[in-house]
Amino acid sequence: MKKIALAATALAAVAALALSGCSNARTDAGGDSSDAAGFAADATIGVALPDKTSENWVLAGDLFTEGLEEAGFKADVQYAPASNTVAEQQNQISAMITNGAKVIVIGAKDGKQLGAQLQQAADAGVKIIAYDRLIENTENVDYYVAFDNFKVGQLQGEALLAGLEERSGHGAPWNVELFSGSPDDANSAVFFNGAMDVLQPKIDDGTLVVKSGQTEIAQTATQGWEAENAQSRMDAIITSTYGTETVDGVLSPNDTLARAILTSVKQAGKDVSTFTVTGQDSEVESVKSIMAGEQYSTINKDTTLLVEQTIKMIEQLQKGEEAEVNDTEQYDNGVKVVPAYLLDPVIVTKENAADAYQNVPNLLEIVEAAQ
Ligand code: BGC
Repeated sequence: MKKIALAATALAAVAALALSGCSNARTDAGGDSSDAAGFAADATIGVALPDKTSENWVLAGDLFTEGLEEAGFKADVQYAPASNTVAEQQNQISAMITNGAKVIVIGAKDGKQLGAQLQQAADAGVKIIAYDRLIENTENVDYYVAFDNFKVGQLQGEALLAGLEERSGHGAPWNVELFSGSPDDANSAVFFNGAMDVLQPKIDDGTLVVKSGQTEIAQTATQGWEAENAQSRMDAIITSTYGTETVDGVLSPNDTLARAILTSVKQAGKDVSTFTVTGQDSEVESVKSIMAGEQYSTINKDTTLLVEQTIKMIEQLQKGEEAEVNDTEQYDNGVKVVPAYLLDPVIVTKENAADAYQNVPNLLEIVEAAQ
């Protein structure tokens, strides 16, 4: 999946939206207009989240439970367990459909493996909103709601360059290594492609040197977004590639992995105040690390705003309206461009942290305590 402007498809999507209410492929032969009429204001809404690989997923579950109930719905929020996750998430979604959910919000564990369940949802007239992670290779995903993931990657690439300038104590060329997320998460490639949009020209012109030679996404992947996998890959790279030489920075796609990479670099005896590593998610431990001058950057993707936007979309569907979207071009899932509502991610470093977290009290407190 790439971020490409598919002009023709996008036009078709806009046209389809314009015809909303009467163009829905799910309206059955008998002219059932249940989509146009919406559904009961106290209906059950399913929320299927992946395993808790970062704090944002934990927070999302709590916010959905509260927010949906406040909006008058019944909330059925489930996490896939850490083991056998894909099969469990498939079962959870099937059960939500059987139990009469009208909308299911899905943070997919593996966005390529929900085809059968989403066909079941379509047959039952259940709307599907892909949350944070795109669901691929199926036409049965109605909406996507997320922070602009390609932009997240671009911001990470820019932050890596800025950090190298600020902290390394020398000019270009800089030695860097690249990490990406789990291959079963559609976001991983989008983050990586966004970052490489900024970094590839700098690799090509010699500003950056990837000494390990590992620049293909498959070589940089971190299975399951697990910290230990990132740490052992970093350990292996340091041992095999950086004898007397220094690694100046690492592109890390999120905070959990950034901290694992920092651990590895510290264990190898490097002074991390001259090292740059990026991140994402504004996890508490990473915000502390940034304020202590270790991790260089993170991204603020305010989960509260993303959950609020999702609930707004569900309320529109409940009334029988189309959900509002602001992008009908970028997120092609391999079968169609999924109409999306994208929020703006914000890059955070020590310098702008107080400003960036002014509406996030627990993080602001950490920033102020460190200043
Ligand atoms: C999310 C990131 C998160 C990662 C691991 C991604 O899909 O967008 O925010 O760090 O999953 O949980």
